[in-house]
Amino acid sequence: MAGLEWTQALVLNLPAMDAVHEEFVELLARTAAAPDEQLCALWDELIEHTQQHFDQEDRWMQAARFASGNCHSTQHKVVLQVMREGAERGALGELSVIRAMADELGPWFVNHAQNMDAALALHLRSIGFDVESGSMAFPEVLPQELITGCGGACDSRAKPRAEAEAA
Ligand SMILES: [Fe+2]
Ligand SMILES: [Fe+2]
Repeated sequence: MAGLEWTQALVLNLPAMDAVHEEFVELLARTAAAPDEQLCALWDELIEHTQQHFDQEDRWMQAARFASGNCHSTQHKVVLQVMREGAERGALGELSVIRAMADELGPWFVNHAQNMDAALALHLRSIGFDVESGSMAFPEVLPQELITGCGGACDSRAKPRAEAEAA
């Protein structure tokens, strides 16, 4: 099976996000290639990593004026729920369910990273967001209202201003 590999096409120029994404891609590849006896343990590890990955992005969104029910955070919740259902089925011996989900996660991740995460990275760069401190250099770029869309790709209120990006 040709699995997902880390490529330049997945780099979003937000190092803290890129590092976690590269770990995710590597862990997913190991999980997809795992023998049956290691599959459930690696799947559980992938769920734990994904929980931390999504929690971090959700915290950044909260700090950057996204509404708690925005579509990006909602997609995170749905994917984790599906992964946990896979773990439950795997624990019952239905390893094919986990294998099918692992196959589907690759294309899902490419789409998610190149759309929702890319829009979030662009938004965070446009406000000069510091992921360590949570501070922002250009808070005036933030919209007045809470952001409920995906953070740029499908929400005009969240589109970063070119002048801020260039500053
Ligand atoms: Fe992500
Ligand atoms: Fe995300």
